[in-house]
Parts: sequence; structure tokens; C-alpha cells
Amino acid sequence: MNIYVLGAGSMGAALIAGLCNLENVSRENIYVLSGHTESTAKIAHKYQINPVGQLAEFSGADLVINATPVDVTRTILPKLASIITAETVVVSVAYGVDVPELKQLLGRVTGLIYMIPNIPVSVNQGVLAVDSTVDQASEDTPVMELLRGLGQIVRVEADLLDVVSAGGGSAPAFAAIFVEALADSMVLHGLGRKVAYQVAEQMLRGTASLLLDRQILPAQLKDLVASPGGSTIRGVNALEQHGFRAAVMEAITKTIA
Ligand SMILES: NC(=O)c1ccc[n+]([C@@H]2O[C@H](COP(=O)([O-])OP(=O)(O)OC[C@H]3O[C@@H](n4cnc5c(N)ncnc54)[C@H](OP(=O)(O)O)[C@@H]3O)[C@@H](O)[C@H]2O)c1
Repeated sequence: MNIYVLGAGSMGAALIAGLCNLENVSRENIYVLSGHTESTAKIAHKYQINPVGQLAEFSGADLVINATPVDVTRTILPKLASIITAETVVVSVAYGVDVPELKQLLGRVTGLIYMIPNIPVSVNQGVLAVDSTVDQASEDTPVMELLRGLGQIVRVEADLLDVVSAGGGSAPAFAAIFVEALADSMVLHGLGRKVAYQVAEQMLRGTASLLLDRQILPAQLKDLVASPGGSTIRGVNALEQHGFRAAVMEAITKTIA
């Protein structure tokens, strides 16, 4: 499958990194076009994939992944539609350019997927929120199989994509702030910076693995750690007093708004 990536900023590069990690994808079959020749060359060199000079070269694409900003998406997709075949599948990650608008922009192209991925797709541990109303997304197609290699696919109705985008797409920034604050607090109490980050990061990975692999609820995990009258429940109490939960919920609400 020839995969052409349009736009290689934060998200385009993350998707390319994840694709390059897949055993069933050869770098020879990945092509990239960014806004500037230099950035196209840089990303192509970094991942040892093919740089594309102009949009016309997308005629050979089986799959196009559009990761350009929204305004660019709106101008470039109609041009792309006149270049690719009607069988080419287009996956667009431009947030806010929904399926009805994509249909308008792409005209005769029928295989389209509107997807909101998050940055951990670069290590094949992403959340890929896909609009469940699109036929291509519900079928067991080669493209969906490919996307599954980048992380977990979550099918949601179109009007809930912004919720998943906040909780899955923006929340890595919130989680990173939590890790940083955790490490800072260990440094405050005398631990070296390097070890403090190691502890905080591995804690997050281990906690996520427990929740995902053992299928236990977050509250059950908290109860396992917090023994009666112990130190952890004192920490939980401090978090509640400082509005930790409310702050997280407000952050997501503000992100969606
Ligand atoms: N970042 C995220 O976590 C995230 C999550 C979900 C969805 N998205 C969506 O992904 C899209 C890109 O976001 P981003 O964060 O990756 O933005 P970004 O870092 O600003 O990257 C934008 C990319 O688009 C390229 N570009 C601009 N004009 C172009 C053109 N005419 N032809 C080809 N490429 C062009 C830019 O190239 P130059 O650098 O050469 O100008 C750059 O590589 C957005 O629509 C966003 O909604 C992002």
C-alpha cells in the first residue's frame, strides 16, 4: 500500500513515526509532502521515507493521510481530489473538518475517514477516535487494519469526537504537567532530577498497564494503594482539598468549549 502523508508537523510526524514502526509497512512505500521543501526533506531524511515535490505526485496514492492545519485542509483537499483516483482512501485528522465537509471537499472520493488521533501514535500507543458513522471506518478494511497498528481505535458518534479529542488528544499535555509536578515535588524533597523523572514516568506507564491489562477500575486501584490511616490516603485527602478532580474536569470542559 502506498501511503502519502500530507503535512508533517507534530501530528503528521507522529503518524509517520508510528507507521515506520509497523512490520507490515515498508518505508519505501511512505511518501511525505509538507508546506516547505526544507521541512519535507528534513522529515523524509529523518524517517528514511520518500520526499514529494508537489501535490500532483499523489496520483500514485492508495492511502492519503491529511495532517495539515484546518485552513490548509480546506484549500488543498479539493485540489487533491482532482489528482487521486476515486479508490484512494483519504484519512483526515484536521480537527473540525468533519465528514459532511470532507465529502464536499473531496467530491467523488468515497473512501474517507475522519479521525482524531493523539501524539502517542508515534509509539503505536495512540488513541484514534474515528467517526463511527463513516462506512469505511466500520469495515474491516486494510486501512483500518493499518490504523489499528498505531494504537486503539475508538468509534464514537461525530458529536462526541471533541470529547475524545480533549480526553485523548489534549490530555497527554495534562498528564505531562502532572508528571513534571510529581518529579518537581520529589526534587523538592531531595531526589535527583533524573531519578525523579524515571520514577514519575514509570509510575504512569505501570498504572496505565494495570488499568488496561487487569481491567480494574481506577477506584479499585486507588483502594489497593491507600491503606486505612496510611500515608497514601493523606495524599488523596490533600488532592481532594486542593480540587484535583474539579481541576481535571474543568480542564476537559474548557478544552471542549
Ligand atoms: N497536534 C495534535 O496533537 C493533533 C491532534 C489531533 C489532530 N490534529 C490535527 O492535525 C493537523 C496538524 O496539526 P499539527 O499539530 O501537526 O500542526 P503543525 O505542527 O503546525 O503542522 C502542520 C503541518 O502542515 C504542513 N503544511 C502547511 N501547509 C501545507 C501545504 N500547503 N501542503 C502540505 N503541508 C502543509 C506544515 O508544513 P511546514 O512546516 O513546512 O509549513 C506542517 O508540516 C491539524 O489539522 C490538527 O487539527 C493535531
